Amino acid sequence: MPNEGNKAESKEKQPRVYVRTFGCQMNDRDSEIVSGMLAEKGYGFVDKPQEADVVLFNTCSVRENAENRVWGQVAALNPRKPHTAHRTPIIGIIGCMAKIHGENIFEKLPHVDFICAPANIYEIPNLIERSQKGEDRISAIDKQARPLSYKDEIASFDYAQDKSSALRPPRNGNLDSRLCAYVNIMEGCDNFCSYCVVPYARGRERSRPQQEILDEVRGLIDNGVKDMTLLGQNVNSYSSGEGKDFIKLLEEIDKVVGGRNIRIRFVTSHPKDASEDLFKAMRDINSVCEYLHLPFQSGSDKILSLMNRKYTRKDYLKLIDKLKKILPECAISTDVIVGFPKETEEDFKDTVDLFKKVEFDSAFVFKYSPRPHTVALKYEDDVPKKIKEERNQILLKLQDEISLKKNKALKGEVVEALFEKTKKDEVSGRSRTNKTVICQGKKDLIGNFVNVKINKVTPRALIGEIDEE
Ligand code: SAH
Ligand code: SF4
Ligand code: F3S
Repeated sequence: MPNEGNKAESKEKQPRVYVRTFGCQMNDRDSEIVSGMLAEKGYGFVDKPQEADVVLFNTCSVRENAENRVWGQVAALNPRKPHTAHRTPIIGIIGCMAKIHGENIFEKLPHVDFICAPANIYEIPNLIERSQKGEDRISAIDKQARPLSYKDEIASFDYAQDKSSALRPPRNGNLDSRLCAYVNIMEGCDNFCSYCVVPYARGRERSRPQQEILDEVRGLIDNGVKDMTLLGQNVNSYSSGEGKDFIKLLEEIDKVVGGRNIRIRFVTSHPKDASEDLFKAMRDINSVCEYLHLPFQSGSDKILSLMNRKYTRKDYLKLIDKLKKILPECAISTDVIVGFPKETEEDFKDTVDLFKKVEFDSAFVFKYSPRPHTVALKYEDDVPKKIKEERNQILLKLQDEISLKKNKALKGEVVEALFEKTKKDEVSGRSRTNKTVICQGKKDLIGNFVNVKINKVTPRALIGEIDEE
């Protein structure tokens, strides 16, 4: 059986990469780009670092525990000895920790071969090649605020034989036929919230040229993608050169959608930049979903000011009122930090009160963690760990009650779900409002928009039956 023998041999030669991603959707998208570049170079993908020739950790610095997991997991790949019968893997630390900690990473983790900041990810195939040739401790963290044209960026690196693929940032081949996709529209942040490391990790705000975004959206739709999330740390500041024009971008994307049933979402909006006009656009542009992620961070004006958030609790509540009037069916999610320096019981009560007033559909609650470079470092981290944990639990419990109440209101309603996956004899997907919808069904429902009549709910899901009418 000579053919099979050849097959086995070529499989043997195929280099294997393990990519582990931490952090936000921005990192998920970056990992797709890196995986896409490596797939075009002929790499295969494995699920365990022990089976890989190249191990990449795409890292996050936003909280200390996110970093600790990386320090621990990469340390566990030491001592440097062959994990497999073949050879030692090349280890790369990419993403925000590379930018924040720089070459100190080599001191802490001497077996790391290269580090690469988010702005340099298109260099990764070259960095791997250089490591394979024996170069050690390579550092690619020099780029600051490159213009965000992927077309130029990709074209400047020789990762692809076929330069036409440079028209859009690559995706891992395996994921190309997915239903849902992220589309970067901007990167970086100029807001400098006092607790946040992101402006130091991702640099200043840069927007991607509108035409490139539209080309990417068109390509994704042609490939069967039906649900797109536009990504940026602060999407409402999107600017293609003639002032802030995020709404214009949404309108142009809707033209590309051309009346088809395609869903557009976006994250993240900053309350100081979200406006009535945005809410009206969400109401009037068909493809834009009724879902808004609007982090409030704290319900106390004192803490908001220390956080440098540039709005008050009153401003935030007013904004939510407008949203509820203009688009009553809109689901709202948020981020909140507990235990920021100087947060008293009174300040925390203000946060609880805001939670109750707004009634978010879902919320991400974070315990404050001091971060390198940030202004808040100068404040003493004076809320004890135990209190942070207590406040965290109080909000999580309250949010569960509110989510359940909001979901209960949907009992008996018909919700359009786009089914994404199966588990045993169930299918699950999401509504336009980003809620998980589950019902009995098989694989053939994946990728379809299906009306589901809701008859049971939990805080995190709507459960129902296919509505045949
Ligand atoms: N640009 C987005 C995402 C920022 S990071 C935004 O402004 O919303 C995601 C969330 O992490 C933030 O909204 C904040 O709630 C949380 N976060 C950021 N820095 C933190 C820190 N030092 N400690 C705890 N939570 C933090
Ligand atoms: Fe961080 Fe604030 Fe920028 Fe969000 S808006 S990324 S929280 S600095
Ligand atoms: Fe983390 Fe970087 Fe995102 S610090 S939250 S991965 S931008």
